[in-house]
Amino acid sequence: MRLFIAIRLSPEMKAALTDAQRAMFRRGVRGNFTSEENLHLTLAFIGEYPSAEAVMDALSGVVFTPFDLRLDGIGRFGDLWWAGLRESAALTAVVRRVRRALAEHAIPFDRKRFTPHITLLRKATRDAAEIPIAPAAMTVRTLSLMSSSRGRNGMIYTELGTIEADSA
Ligand code: 2AM
Repeated sequence: MRLFIAIRLSPEMKAALTDAQRAMFRRGVRGNFTSEENLHLTLAFIGEYPSAEAVMDALSGVVFTPFDLRLDGIGRFGDLWWAGLRESAALTAVVRRVRRALAEHAIPFDRKRFTPHITLLRKATRDAAEIPIAPAAMTVRTLSLMSSSRGRNGMIYTELGTIEADSA
């Protein structure tokens, strides 16, 4: 199983993101656009790992209260274009807790520095800079353990488990 931990996005966030994708397309940018259902924010990438149960067990100790996310502009890693998020101490803290819980349970994950991003487009055929994106926001109450598999028409992401915020 190919596993990662992510925040699934609200319909309002997805609407702002798909608007930006359409704006890219109208400007003649082509490539592999992330489908609306697949838009997400990854907190930790585990990769191939045999036990979702062990991961859920590790995450059961992660405590957080609901926090807000807000979109903030477009960025790139080479020909991959993404939507960024406004700096958030709460998000950074949750990522640190998730990653620490994985490490403490000897679950391997990609330790690359966390750069919060929502991938909109891979293999862009041309520059997508200066595309406007609405500053949509959402409140995060749930973290998701996701699996990814290759489907006939692209990646299929499946939620295997969730961690809920404290209701405080
Ligand atoms: P990306 O969108 O920048 O490729 C599922 O692959 C999710 O895990 C994607 O959000 C992907 O980010 C992220 N991810 C993080 N590190 C990864 C890695 N080393 N390999 C593949 N995906 C990774």
